[in-house]
Amino acid sequence: MFLLVWLPRSIVMDKVFELSWHPNSWTSYPFTHIPPYENMQRLYSCLQEISNTTPLIDVDSINLLSQKLFKVWNREYFILQAGDCAEKISDHDEAIVVKKVSFLRELSDIIQDVYSPLLIGRIAGQYAKPRSTPYEVRSGNALPSYFGDLVNLPEYDSNVRKPDPQRLLLAYQAAQKVLHHIKKLNKESEIASYLFTSHEALHLYYEGALTRRSEKRWYNLSTHYPWLGMRTALHSLAHVEYFKGISNPIAIKIGPTMTVNILMRLIDKLNPENLPGKIALIHRLGCDLINQILPAWISYINQNKRNVIWVCDPMHGNTELSPNGIKTRYVDKIQQEIISAFDIHNSYDSFLNGIHLEVTPYDVTECIDNELVCEKDLLSNYCSCIDPRLNPTQAKQIMQLVKNKLLEVR
Ligand code: PEP
Ligand code: CO
Repeated sequence: MFLLVWLPRSIVMDKVFELSWHPNSWTSYPFTHIPPYENMQRLYSCLQEISNTTPLIDVDSINLLSQKLFKVWNREYFILQAGDCAEKISDHDEAIVVKKVSFLRELSDIIQDVYSPLLIGRIAGQYAKPRSTPYEVRSGNALPSYFGDLVNLPEYDSNVRKPDPQRLLLAYQAAQKVLHHIKKLNKESEIASYLFTSHEALHLYYEGALTRRSEKRWYNLSTHYPWLGMRTALHSLAHVEYFKGISNPIAIKIGPTMTVNILMRLIDKLNPENLPGKIALIHRLGCDLINQILPAWISYINQNKRNVIWVCDPMHGNTELSPNGIKTRYVDKIQQEIISAFDIHNSYDSFLNGIHLEVTPYDVTECIDNELVCEKDLLSNYCSCIDPRLNPTQAKQIMQLVKNKLLEVR
């Protein structure tokens, strides 16, 4: 009795929750960014069907990734994590997957002779998106926002914007096909260009249905490397609860509104044993704020001896509207954030272990470089359903910069 009174409440509660964790224990916590479904019975029957399917990823390949991530932490590998902002369910044909994977390999090859790359795609499941508003209003009419192909479709039409549970099954089938092609490519390739998969584990109903037990541990078997998005890391206890129970390596997106206290609590909750490689912090601060915020975070993590991998996402803090009102990113700001990230880590006794990009192998005009793509060109081939991606010329230029910075700091 004395012990119970004396122990801080959170420790007692944590112990209780540890014993009671299961893939759906998150439903007892408040959550955000999971869409409401009109017919919950239909949702549950689709989830039941997914729970009975073969999982998408095998435990051995997740454990292989964990070993590689230990080496990333040890500065033996450098992460390139890249792909679409929002993947389309229809992008499952072999030719498309080959194009995407070959392009990612081409990007990682750029740094190959300076650092061994660890290639991770935003692929085979990047189908769910957090949105700043639940509704999109056009001419006084409100429809649910587009939450990614897992939930609804981007066309502004009430028939396809209503969250549809059947889409969870479609997403599962699409991911299965994409993974089939990736596995084939991985088998044919050198171990150095092996591609692991990642996505934001946002839709916890879907993730829970693909979370399975193996040798007394729980794994998310929808992807190798799930990440906790910036919005849910900060505001959704349910997402934190879910991530606490899985044995996959985990990445956490952290933006300017994160505080060091919350960050430390998150790290300790998700990696209580302080295992090197288990947690990656993906900072996405923007080219100005990175200089004000990142030094304090690094100092805090170093002083408190938490083992983390540091990754820079130079995309999400640099999203803005062009003067003609189109969502874009300026390549020079992306470059500036990368340079600052390497330099700050270097001067604060730390090391940048990876880069996180939104890219496409197609010649889109979504980011502005003021050479091939100017403001006036944005609409000529703007295809992204959510965030603007680097086209091949821009992405290669960015990787060249990463290579030069790696040469400087290694
Ligand atoms: C994303 O990676 O597409 C995304 C929404 O990121 P963040 O959580 O960092 O905003
Ligand atoms: Co994005």
